[in-house]
Amino acid sequence: ASKPVSLKVDEDDDALVASGKKKVTIFYGTQTGTAEGFAKALAEEIKARYEKAAVKAVDLDDYAVDDEEYEEKLKKETLAFFMVATYGDGEPTDNSARFYKWFTEGNKRQSWLQRLTYGVFGLGNRQYEHFNKIAKVLDEQLSEQGAKRLIEVGLGDDDQCIEDDFTAWRELLWPELDQLLRDEDDENIASTPYTAAIPKYRVVIHDPSMMHIEDNHSNTENGNASHDIHHPCRVNVAVQRELHKPESDRSCIHLEFDISGTSITYETGDHVGVYADNSIETVEEADGLLGQPLDLLFSIHTDNKDGTPSGSSLPPPFSGPCTLKTALARYADLLNPPRKAALVALAAHATEPSEAERLRFLSSPQGKDEYSQWVVGSQRSLLEVMAQFPSAKPPIGVFFAAIAPRLQPRYYSISSSPRFVSGRIHVTCALVYGPTPTGRIHRGVCSTWMKNAVSLEKKSDCSGAPIFIRQSNFKLLADPSIPIIMVGPGTGLAPFRGFLQERVVLKEDGAELGPSLLFFGCRNRKMVRDFIYEDELNNLVEQGALSELIVAFSREGPQKEYVQHKMMDKAAHIWSLISKGGYLYVCGDAKGMARDVHRTLHTIVQEQGNMESSKAESMVKKLQMEGRYLRDVW
Ligand code: 2AM
Repeated sequence: ASKPVSLKVDEDDDALVASGKKKVTIFYGTQTGTAEGFAKALAEEIKARYEKAAVKAVDLDDYAVDDEEYEEKLKKETLAFFMVATYGDGEPTDNSARFYKWFTEGNKRQSWLQRLTYGVFGLGNRQYEHFNKIAKVLDEQLSEQGAKRLIEVGLGDDDQCIEDDFTAWRELLWPELDQLLRDEDDENIASTPYTAAIPKYRVVIHDPSMMHIEDNHSNTENGNASHDIHHPCRVNVAVQRELHKPESDRSCIHLEFDISGTSITYETGDHVGVYADNSIETVEEADGLLGQPLDLLFSIHTDNKDGTPSGSSLPPPFSGPCTLKTALARYADLLNPPRKAALVALAAHATEPSEAERLRFLSSPQGKDEYSQWVVGSQRSLLEVMAQFPSAKPPIGVFFAAIAPRLQPRYYSISSSPRFVSGRIHVTCALVYGPTPTGRIHRGVCSTWMKNAVSLEKKSDCSGAPIFIRQSNFKLLADPSIPIIMVGPGTGLAPFRGFLQERVVLKEDGAELGPSLLFFGCRNRKMVRDFIYEDELNNLVEQGALSELIVAFSREGPQKEYVQHKMMDKAAHIWSLISKGGYLYVCGDAKGMARDVHRTLHTIVQEQGNMESSKAESMVKKLQMEGRYLRDVW
């Protein structure tokens, strides 16, 4: 039975203790919602298992307004869990950045967390260099500062099946929590196996003729003073053009958002988050699988008519009535492989027993290998999976709460400088397009949207999207005379185009510019024609904003030539610039390129500086610590 008291535990800890309850706080640092979902699921499960627990899942950003409040409130916690994702180049998520900075940087506090017992579960991806860095650091520091570790830090790996990692971690957690939270007379409760309820929203169908339907993004309010991931600003596409030559079999789009007249501001090096719609083909495919009319007008709610929870703890993605077509286009992630929890929900609605059985098997511990091959390995999209189980037609309240995750914004490194182009944000986006192992052609949601976007230049009824800015640390120096080395193959060039635009303006204003090198890489100038912005880059050299442009063509000669090979050719020059206090910037693919460039940097430092490998390593680390070696990688 659920205990309503657990929802209202905010302030009054004393009252809780008096009532014999034990407060449990589950913090989450989430970027795409997975950590949030895990935190809420853990809260539900603890609530169901332990009569005594007054449990709450809390967004780390919402917990406290400033550092003092973090300290004041955290000191009072006695049992807490942290579900934290690591993201980008070993960074905290946006909503945990403030907490993380305060907790890990500030002055070392002396054992002030002694009252706290804690556990950390991290969400990361082993393909990246800083696998679960945030979880590891947080776990270590909590322990160092006197808190008691209840359970080893869990290291969820999204490259495999992160849900399995979370389940395994929870299995280790229960015996420990039994010690803390189980009453003597609770025995039969805890021995009943817990099965998570399938989340669902209550759906209200509206009569279209009775309503004036507005085509608005539920949380897009252009009057807002500040825009963020929760309050994007809808803007028009002013310019859209292909950067590859027509003969190329690939595509890279240059897109300009018109931000004039909005309150959006950005700095060179920032990122733009873009909420793109699924293509109409994708929407229609989904609709066929759900078996409902696309113009169905409905709204979804987390509470039942009587005010009791409807079964989903996640807020609905849109507030007012919305057509199914819009809901599928804007709010449903349809092209990623489904999570196991989605398969469980599909199974519950499969009317054909063999389909239900197969879905249950795929989501079960016994079906682990099959799931990782059949679903993840073959990159089967949610829609592809649903097509295989035609009898499973979930109600839309279940579909939006438990099956299709919320469609996430995509981030791009802005490729312009606000000092050079006013009222515009430039984006440079490679089209994600290619066959998957099942023969499906995968089309990236946002890059496909950008490819098909119609600009204001061409049509007054142009494309638009809700966007917001995410600040980054990838910034030009205040002093332009300091040497800079930029490494950005492919669309990794984006932020450097902004940097160089800014240097043009600085130069015009009379600033003294220091030396700058740009290492760019692409496949083939003549055949593939993916040397993007070629003329612009040459002009930047002529204008003196860029001292030297060095291009690696990977598919021109008999051997692959990459940016790091070109860096080796210029090792002495790079070393001399670094020795003069120069900065190194790397942007682009994290898994291959940035890793290889990192190794090359190490070699250059070791060889040119004539030092042992370990000394070179600590020097590269030092450059990183001092913020002189910056990376913007994905
Ligand atoms: P490739 O596709 O011929 O392998 C932009 O994508 C450029 O980066 C391409 O020329 C691509 O080459 C190259 N690239 C691919 N992997 C890389 C790596 N590990 N390091 C540096 N460049 C790489």
